[in-house]
Amino acid sequence: MTASPLAPGWLAHPADANALVSAVWPASAERDDDGAIRIAGAALPQLAAEFGTPLYVMDEVDVRTRATTVRTAFDAAFAAVGSSAAVYYAGKAFLCTTVARWVVEEGLHIDVASGGELAVARAAGVDPALLGFHGNNKSLAEIDLAVGLGVGAIVLDSVVEIDRVSAAAERHGRVQPVRLRINSGVHASTHEYLATAREDQKFGIPLADAAAAVAVIRSHPSLRFLGLHSHIGSQIFESAGFAEAARRLLAVHAELLTGGEVPELNLGGGFGIAYTSADEVTPIDEIAADFARVVSAECTSLGIPVPVVAIEPGRAIIGPSTVTLYEVGTIKDVVVSMTTKDGPNVDGTDVRKYVSVDGGMSDNIRPALYGADYTVRLANRTSDADPALVRIAGKHCESGDIVVHADYLPGDVTPGDLVAVPATGAYCWALSSNYNYLGRPAVVAVRDGVARLIVRRETEDDLLRRDVGVEALMNGTTQ
Ligand SMILES: Cc1ncc(COP(=O)(O)O)c(C=O)c1O
Repeated sequence: MTASPLAPGWLAHPADANALVSAVWPASAERDDDGAIRIAGAALPQLAAEFGTPLYVMDEVDVRTRATTVRTAFDAAFAAVGSSAAVYYAGKAFLCTTVARWVVEEGLHIDVASGGELAVARAAGVDPALLGFHGNNKSLAEIDLAVGLGVGAIVLDSVVEIDRVSAAAERHGRVQPVRLRINSGVHASTHEYLATAREDQKFGIPLADAAAAVAVIRSHPSLRFLGLHSHIGSQIFESAGFAEAARRLLAVHAELLTGGEVPELNLGGGFGIAYTSADEVTPIDEIAADFARVVSAECTSLGIPVPVVAIEPGRAIIGPSTVTLYEVGTIKDVVVSMTTKDGPNVDGTDVRKYVSVDGGMSDNIRPALYGADYTVRLANRTSDADPALVRIAGKHCESGDIVVHADYLPGDVTPGDLVAVPATGAYCWALSSNYNYLGRPAVVAVRDGVARLIVRRETEDDLLRRDVGVEALMNGTTQ
């Protein structure tokens, strides 16, 4: 069978539309004798029956293993060049108290980017000394709280924050460790990176202004300067962009060493994961070895010691661990007119099967926000029916409400089937919304065949709770 002319170039016609491409699914994903997908030993149809759909199903061991793998890879790579590494889990990718606890148990620190994320880490009992606090516009209250709690590092994002954080540190009688976020001019995304003198974006301060800013930081006895920080982008598959950023930052880092200590260099997160079979992920130990090689070579040529290197992966730790489980509601075969732009020698029409599920852009905004691609599989059964090109649509009132732009499912997919979309651990639940007053789905963690709820589903009561008019109506106090 040939690929549908409506399919994107990267999507081949599958030999088996039931197969689970291992790089895209949690490590434990498999089909059982009934054809149902199991994650960490739990059958998805059973989870749907017990917890409802849509449902995020997270493989606990997968998260823990990825956290440990990143940590040990960076520890080993930097030990080999006479230094050490620190791994911060970027909580913005997905944060709840259970996951915060897991990553800390696996030896990671956590980055938080708001008072709310800080509250989750606190509720999880995470030692504040293990936390990094980010944000380009932290409120005074957030700064005061973070400093008062003894957060391990605050990432200063602008010069105005220097005085704000030092004032808070003085109020609390503390010396607050700080990093300085640099806009390195390097921007990387997937396989390409751009290196300019400056990047047109809101984060950090220009490299050229770093020395003056660090002098101001050092003039405050209530601040301790840890080092420079850069984050160059997301879904990065090659280390060339990180290497360029490291070289740029280390040149300034060396200058700063002439005026005092600079124990660290933070190179941010952004390591890519496989969302589809087209994404080829570089193993993390190769990335870590590349980082260590570039940083140590640069330090040797600058004649400085190799600093502690910190990184902040989010997606690479949590992304592949989770699948979103949906129930199919309606199906439409939409006849699409094609022009030559749809493919070579294309003329006429072809059919795209629109499969609508019981969630959508409220539980995964990434396809609508970034045009992100995902894949899909029948979760409750396998089928030998010929594969059909499908688009998985949500139930929201937006034509851009698409979860999977293009994949193949067995052509006999039918209402009531369950479908699972893998690699939804990062920036799906975290970016979820109540659009159209849908409650945000529950999250279950599965381990050794046992599933437990780690975030419950939002109910209609939750949705109405903040509507002050509801209470007024019930009390008869409306006018
Ligand atoms: C400063 C910073 N660090 C780390 C991350 C995590 O990126 P990723 O989840 O792609 O690893 C982000 C993501 O936006 C970020 O802005």
